[in-house]
Amino acid sequence: MTRGVIKSFGTGDTRAQVLRGVEFDAQAGEMTFLVGPSGCGKTTLISILSAMLTPDGGDVTVFGVEPVKLRGAKLTDFRMRTVGFVFQQFNLMPALDAAENAAVPLIVQGVGAGRARKQAAALLDRLGLGAHLDKYPAQLSAGQQQRVAIARALIHEPRLVVCDEPTASLDATSGRAVMEILKSIAVQKNRAVIVVTHDNRIYSFADRITFMADGRVVRTALPASLQEYEVA
Ligand SMILES: Nc1ncnc2c1ncn2[C@@H]1O[C@H](COP(=O)(O)OP(=O)(O)OP(=O)(O)O)[C@@H](O)[C@H]1O
Ligand SMILES: [Mg+2]
Repeated sequence: MTRGVIKSFGTGDTRAQVLRGVEFDAQAGEMTFLVGPSGCGKTTLISILSAMLTPDGGDVTVFGVEPVKLRGAKLTDFRMRTVGFVFQQFNLMPALDAAENAAVPLIVQGVGAGRARKQAAALLDRLGLGAHLDKYPAQLSAGQQQRVAIARALIHEPRLVVCDEPTASLDATSGRAVMEILKSIAVQKNRAVIVVTHDNRIYSFADRITFMADGRVVRTALPASLQEYEVA
């Protein structure tokens, strides 16, 4: 999916190279975990895969499409339909209730408000939020907001699902429930699911685990072989 991707932020003396030639692959039908120390470039990499950031160099291909070559409506379409993104900071809309937030991608695609809300309600119910559909983000706990953000990323069944620390605010039970939903989407719908995480409680859900350090992918392992690694 990425070959030799480089990315820097800042200018002049404050310029810092954050990605230093990243080789990263994820497959449809699989859960790929991306782990590594804080600041190593995980969010930057998945933002590039999702066409929210442009790399300075290297190749990025997502399902045969090169996002850097997309412009205008095609770029918007890629971001809206192909990708579902769970942000590290959730990024929910404060003036919309839980069901409305989760339904946004459907509304954007022209699904009627009633139908979109019904679909969002069903998914939120699977995530344990059936009793909180009409609550606003400010009335929800961090873990509840996180699950609304996850519902919003999945509701339109995107081919690429990218989750930045999706279980960081969740207890073990809710975290497993989220992973089970993500896994079923990967396997049954043949979606590529990428999960950035520090949460080693959920490693068993991974089909492969890719380790990053200092702007590079240093190793990809299968979960079964993980004992050899010290992962914080
Ligand atoms: N928009 C930006 N402008 C300047 N520097 C940035 C920007 N975004 C990220 N960085 C820097 O790039 C580096 C990598 O950031 P990134 O968010 O990709 O790390 P991460 O691996 O996701 O870390 P964490 O586990 O803490 O979320 C950090 O040093 C960060 O300060
Ligand atoms: Mg991050």
